[in-house]
Amino acid sequence: MSSPTGPDPAAPTGSGLGRLSLRTQFTAVIFLLAFLPNLGVTLMSPLRLSLLNLLWILLVGVLSAIMGYFLSGALLQPVSRLEAEVKRRDFGEAHPDDPSEVRSLRAAFKGLLGRLGTEQARRNAFMATLVHDLKTPIIATGHLTHALTTLPLPDAERREVGAHIQAETARLLALVQQMADAHRFERDDLTLNRQPTDLRALLDDIVRRFAGRAEAAGLHLSACGGGHALTDAAVLERAVSNLVENALRYAHRTVVLRAGHEGLCVADDGPGLDLPLDKLAQPFNAQPAIIAGQQFTAGTAGLGLFIARRIAEAHGGHLRYTRVPEVGSDPSSHPPLEHADTEPAPVPFTKLTITLPEVTP
Ligand SMILES: Nc1ncnc2c1ncn2[C@@H]1O[C@H](COP(=O)(O)OP(=O)(O)O)[C@@H](O)[C@H]1O
Ligand SMILES: [Mg+2]
Repeated sequence: MSSPTGPDPAAPTGSGLGRLSLRTQFTAVIFLLAFLPNLGVTLMSPLRLSLLNLLWILLVGVLSAIMGYFLSGALLQPVSRLEAEVKRRDFGEAHPDDPSEVRSLRAAFKGLLGRLGTEQARRNAFMATLVHDLKTPIIATGHLTHALTTLPLPDAERREVGAHIQAETARLLALVQQMADAHRFERDDLTLNRQPTDLRALLDDIVRRFAGRAEAAGLHLSACGGGHALTDAAVLERAVSNLVENALRYAHRTVVLRAGHEGLCVADDGPGLDLPLDKLAQPFNAQPAIIAGQQFTAGTAGLGLFIARRIAEAHGGHLRYTRVPEVGSDPSSHPPLEHADTEPAPVPFTKLTITLPEVTP
C-alpha cells in the first residue's frame, strides 16, 4: 500500500502553467487578451488616475474574467463531454460540433477500448483453458499414480498404467508448448531468423516425425512438390506440424503435404472445417469435436490454427482454407494434389495452405 505522505502517482508532475487545468489556462489567456489592450488605452489617456478610470479598469477586468471563464468552458465542452463518456465507457458516434482533434481522440479511445476488450476476452479464455485442459491430464495422472503406488497390480498392468501416465504427461507438455507458442507468436513484433529453406526437405522431416502416429491411426501420410523460400524453418515447421496434427485427427485415409509456388499445403480427406477459418484461427477456441455426426479426438486448447495463421502472417503470407475435390484418395496411385485425368471418383480434400510471398523452384 502506498503511504499517505508519499507522492500521489496520479498528480500532475509538470511545473508552472502546466500544473493548472486547461480551463484555467484558457480563462487566463482570454482574460489577458481582452484586458491588456483596454488597460493600455486607459493608462495612456490624460485622465488616467481619475476614480472613474480606475472603476472602469476594474469593470473591464471583471468582465474580461467572466468572458474568459464562459468562453473557455464553451471551447472545452467537447473535451469535457468526451471525458464523461470515457468515464462511462459509453462512446456514441462523434458529435457534429466535435473539432477534428476530439474526433481523433475519440477514435483512438475506441481503438484502445476495443483492444482492451479483446485482451480481456483472451485472458478469460486463457484461464478457462488452463483450468480445463491442464487440469484434466493432471487429475488423470494423479489417479494413475495413486493406482500404481497403492494397488498390488501385476507387471503387465503396471506397465500399461505407466504408459497411460506417459501419454498424459505428453499431452500436458504439448499443451504447455502450444500455450508458450501462442504467447510468443501473438506479439506483433515477432522476429524471424530467415534463412534459405528447402521446403520439400522441411516437409520430409515432418513426415518422418509423424510417420509413427499416422501408421498407428491407419493413415497414409506423404509429401510431394518442392520449392525454396527465405523462411525461419524452425518456426514454419511448428506451423505445419500444427496443421498435420489436425489433419491426422480428421483424415479418413490420407494426409498429403505439398510444397509449391504458393507455399506449403496440408491436405486431408476428412470432413472439412465446420466453421469459417477466421473463427477457428482465433486463440483458445477449441471446438466441440463432433463434425457431421462423427466423433473426433480432442486437440490442444484450440491454439493450432491460430499459431499457424500468426506464423504465416509473420512470413508475409497468410493461412488459407479451401475444400476441393481431388481425384483419388491414395497418393501412391494418384497424387491427390495434382490433377490427373484418369478415372477414380473425386474425393473432397480439406486444404490448409500457408502461403509464402516468394517461393522459387
Ligand atoms: N483438418 C481439419 N479438418 C477438420 N476440422 C479441423 C481441421 N483442422 C482444424 N479443424 C477444426 O478447427 C478447430 C481448431 O483447430 P486448432 O486451432 O488446431 O485447435 P485444436 O486442434 O486444439 O482443436 C478444431 O477443433 C477443429 O474443429
Ligand atoms: Mg490442433
